[in-house]
Amino acid sequence: MPITTCVFDAYGTLFDVGAAARHAASEPDFAAIKDDWKVLAEHWRQKQLAYSWLRAVADAHTDFWEVTQNGLDWALEKTGHAGDPALRERLLALYWELQAYPEVPSMLAALKDAGMNTAILSNGSPDMLEGAINSAGIGAVLDAALSVQSVGIFKPDARVYDLVGVHFGCAKDEVLFVSSNGWDAAAATGYGFDTAWVNRGGEPMDRLPWTPAHVLTDLTGIPALAGA
Ligand code: LAC
Repeated sequence: MPITTCVFDAYGTLFDVGAAARHAASEPDFAAIKDDWKVLAEHWRQKQLAYSWLRAVADAHTDFWEVTQNGLDWALEKTGHAGDPALRERLLALYWELQAYPEVPSMLAALKDAGMNTAILSNGSPDMLEGAINSAGIGAVLDAALSVQSVGIFKPDARVYDLVGVHFGCAKDEVLFVSSNGWDAAAATGYGFDTAWVNRGGEPMDRLPWTPAHVLTDLTGIPALAGA
């Protein structure tokens, strides 16, 4: 079936999750992370994801904002910045206004011009997604922001991917699912979507039972891949 619906992961795919720590590190008040903001950002992201998976397998769901804070607290302690509540507050505030990658607005506009459905499918809670969409100014080129909140479990549970068909009434093979998380793109392949892994960092392929159908280095090739 031709692709009718392009669905994007949010954090790390449309929105640059490293931007919060990078931005804070450039501010005089937070010069303490000038040299280790990258390590801090990486620990934050990895723990945020690990806590989402652990809560999914342990049937202990909470919202993504809580695991985002829990991941940050672990990362601040690990990097020796736990005693800086102003830094914690600043990093959390910046998470609500993450920058989109530069090619995002034109890529989404090209999909909409071609008559495609466009959506976010994310672990993020609806209010977190709304904050990021508004600060990136991409609300007009997105048809929906689908959050795991309505199913009460995190990715890669199949009930999350089910939200796409329920919302758009489309078949799985009409969907191109795009994620910068290799595990998310892989699991979506297993679910039955066509998939693209946006591997900006040149990471190795995750060793899972499925693999992403396509691998790109940024989002510029998505309209061509979708046949837009
Ligand atoms: C999301 C995370 C996994 O947006 O990046 O769902």
